[in-house]
Amino acid sequence: MGRMDPHSYTDPDQASTRHMDLELTVDFAARRLRGVVRLDFAEAGSGPVDLDTRDLTIEAVETADGTPLDFHLADPEGFMGARLRIERPAGVDSLRIRYATSPEASALQWLEPQHTAGGNHPYMFSQCQPIHARSMVPVQDSARVRFSYSARITVPRPLKAVMSAAPGEEARGETSSVFSFEMPQPIPSYLLAIAVGNLASQDVGPRSRVYAEPEQLEAAAWEFAEIDRMLLAAEGLFGPYRWDRFDFIVMPPAFPYGGMENPRLTFLTPTLLAGDRSLVNVLAHELAHSWTGNLVTNATMNDFWLNEGFTVWAERRILEALAGEDAVALAAAIGRHGLEEDIQRFGEDSPLTRLENDLAGIDPDEVYSQVPYEKGCLLVQLIEKTVGRQAFDRFITRYMDRFAFTSITTAEFEAFFHEELPGVAEKIGMDAWIHGPGIPANAPVFHSRQLEEITALAASWADGERPDPQVAREWSAELWQIYLQRLPRPISVDDCAWLDQTFSLTDSGNCEILCQWLLIAAASGWEPAYPRIRSFLGSVGRMKYLKPLYTVLHAHERTRAMAAELFAAYGDRYHPIARGGLESILSA
Ligand code: BES
Ligand code: ZN
Repeated sequence: MGRMDPHSYTDPDQASTRHMDLELTVDFAARRLRGVVRLDFAEAGSGPVDLDTRDLTIEAVETADGTPLDFHLADPEGFMGARLRIERPAGVDSLRIRYATSPEASALQWLEPQHTAGGNHPYMFSQCQPIHARSMVPVQDSARVRFSYSARITVPRPLKAVMSAAPGEEARGETSSVFSFEMPQPIPSYLLAIAVGNLASQDVGPRSRVYAEPEQLEAAAWEFAEIDRMLLAAEGLFGPYRWDRFDFIVMPPAFPYGGMENPRLTFLTPTLLAGDRSLVNVLAHELAHSWTGNLVTNATMNDFWLNEGFTVWAERRILEALAGEDAVALAAAIGRHGLEEDIQRFGEDSPLTRLENDLAGIDPDEVYSQVPYEKGCLLVQLIEKTVGRQAFDRFITRYMDRFAFTSITTAEFEAFFHEELPGVAEKIGMDAWIHGPGIPANAPVFHSRQLEEITALAASWADGERPDPQVAREWSAELWQIYLQRLPRPISVDDCAWLDQTFSLTDSGNCEILCQWLLIAAASGWEPAYPRIRSFLGSVGRMKYLKPLYTVLHAHERTRAMAAELFAAYGDRYHPIARGGLESILSA
């Protein structure tokens, strides 16, 4: 049978997982999860079942009552991993697989105590999107398959386990504790998630609690105190929140993304703790995925824009509700700049600049970009602008109702769109947006007076125009981001010195500003910033910052050795996914 997902061995003609039960022990010394997974299928049947695995040791496969079953683990095929084929005897609707993960599991990162905030306890966390769940558990690792799950996780005391599920009992033994979880709503495998560490938590709203290491808990609770206002705004826009609670956790610095929308427990990078709530849009983004992504899910990574494009649109609707239209114009400008950079990087005609993709044979982590996010958002905003807000909000409601708890392809989205809004696709040239490269000319443009002033000021840098210190010291974080993004590079070392002395950019607590500034300083060879570049690369693991900084250091002869030296020193604290990306940058 043909594949329904280019990144999975799941066969749509075979039985489909309905429930997963995990019984795992977290072994920090061996850097392994070990235990048993039980997969329950929709109906009793017979015949082969193909699962995805990556670097797993399969110890035994048996029926629910313990009868051993034959299985075959095929040779691994790169990032796809190895197909596990199990022969299901007639009448069997449940399989148990005894297995262990590898210390190199691509989904898991094991941290030594010194790489945590507290410095005294080890930490382990998962990142399953897009196709890493298979390195944590044998599974039909395709977003078309949805299952509920339950888990019992044994961890050494005094550590705590949390998952993308409702927490249940905690049974404390002498040296270890067992944490129970239940996820009643069906989810795709990429939303499986676990973190284990020295965790504390605090309520930050009637439906929300923040988890973090004790050392960061207070700062985290303050930074994200607006969560309930966001939740209420989101419900007003997209309908009831369907996941009961919205908890979130501030991860150790090695977490490779800004955020990950694990249901009931969003994971967040600690780089969001700016101390002034200036980066909470990432929380709004992950919250928005509770509708766009977790309720209505992309069928495969070819359709990733359905997740991210709609979520960036939704994030900005929340922003508009809380901060107004001007704030949306600034966010759009920041997004558009990042989109144009990525399109330049791929080349304007590159197929990777299309919304719907064909990623067969391509590792989705290697082609991650702003295209599905920002081009996707522009298309959704264009539709909204064309049909008007009222009609569009009605469309969104029907879209949610129609596809809630399912996973859809781009073609299924298009068919629904033509039915619901006849003639609109033709009017806006939706075909070119989805299947063609680049940014079509009818992309919406957002205006704000401040935005126009700042972009004009940045554009006249070369003519000697400089920001008025008194005025610029009052700029918001977004305005600084826009200004720095648009400055030419390199600039002179004297200009670097003036900017830094006047605006203390090297000391910025906002990582977006800091990263933009360090990129300018590195491209300009301004040595006083090098110590901060070193300390920053040693203290963050977020790929959004690591990749451009290593790229610019590697691009210049004078800092190439420094890039190699820093990677040699810090590489082992970066996430396996980040390490892979950086290795290809440094070997270019
Ligand atoms: N789901 C993504 C993160 C992701 C994407 C992980 C693809 C693995 C593969 C998450 O929702 C996300 O988009 N995070 C952004 C936040 C931003 C757009 C506000 C990030 O990490 O920067
Ligand atoms: Zn997202």
